[in-house]
Amino acid sequence: MPNMNERQQEYAIVTRALNREFRVRLKAEGLAASLRNFFAPQHKTVNAVNDLDMQIGAGEIVGFLGPNGAGKTTTLKMLSGLLVPTSGSIDVLGYTPFSRDHAFLRHISLVMGQKQNLWWDLPPVETFAIHRRIYGLTDQQYAERTKELIDMLEISDCLETQTRKLSLGQRMRCELAVSLLHQPKILFLDEPTIGLDILMQKKIRSFLLDYHRRFKPTILLTSHYMDDVAALAQRVIVIDRGNKVFDGYLSDLTHKLHPEKIVSVVLNNGNFICNPEEGCRLIHQDGQHYRLLVERNRVPEIAARLYATGNIADLTIEDPPLEDIIGQLFTAETRNS
Ligand SMILES: Nc1ncnc2c1ncn2[C@@H]1O[C@H](COP(=O)(O)OP(=O)(O)O)[C@@H](O)[C@H]1O
Ligand SMILES: [Mg+2]
Repeated sequence: MPNMNERQQEYAIVTRALNREFRVRLKAEGLAASLRNFFAPQHKTVNAVNDLDMQIGAGEIVGFLGPNGAGKTTTLKMLSGLLVPTSGSIDVLGYTPFSRDHAFLRHISLVMGQKQNLWWDLPPVETFAIHRRIYGLTDQQYAERTKELIDMLEISDCLETQTRKLSLGQRMRCELAVSLLHQPKILFLDEPTIGLDILMQKKIRSFLLDYHRRFKPTILLTSHYMDDVAALAQRVIVIDRGNKVFDGYLSDLTHKLHPEKIVSVVLNNGNFICNPEEGCRLIHQDGQHYRLLVERNRVPEIAARLYATGNIADLTIEDPPLEDIIGQLFTAETRNS
């Protein structure tokens, strides 16, 4: 591979001080301002991605999280060469994406839940054939790969149907198949399960896990569904307003955002006094059923004290739902949109 130094070879993706600005026209309120704005438009600069450094190892799956407008799609577009950075550097498999080198394009795929690679008026099988020509696959490669993907994605019955007539779930699975025909080393997935029902989300998730196990592509995935992220990625990168705010294990992020566990206890009789000094807070009580929020490192002592009452009918200790925890990251959901 060209231009790779020793250090970068272990990484599939490296960005340094990556920036992308957009010049956007300010909206004007009221007729006079609108007219003024029409003749002399006012602009402002949005830093969609701000000094982003990231390093992703070959074969890693990384969840890329952040509220709407955080800069995720802009980053994925830069990494796949659809957008030119304002400044900074990107190295993807030794290539500079925005030069759109053919050799580079053979190694990547960008799948966007809200956009498609399939031709709307053609049945998927014809789009497959077009991609086969673009990527110069041999008969054997094409036969093997289509068979494998069609089986894995269970799409044999939708291949001949005009894409526009397929359901969203069928289309998304065909979309994945066409995007994987050339066996890209890197897969950028931007909201691949958006709008799908839970069952279909699960199907796609388990397909991706299976596919990754077999072919070990590097995957960078954005999703609003935390189940996707939790099932697929151990590592997450979180951005907010273009700035990286977290990079590490998903479990560390949850601990950081939510340092407590939920202890549910049912007593046979009597009551239990929860003491804030012990790092314990009562969040709900229904008769003898208590739900307590307990600091992680204090859970053993609280549990021990509960057991010592000799009065427990039931006790469970659990993490708060991931959806709730990460939801905190998305509270600013509509901030920029
Ligand atoms: N083509 C564009 N022109 C102007 N502004 C844009 C464009 N694309 C994205 N932006 C702005 O850049 C910011 C990041 O957008 P985006 O990367 O789509 O965020 P995300 O994918 O995290 O929701 C937003 O403020 C958005 O409005
Ligand atoms: Mg986006």
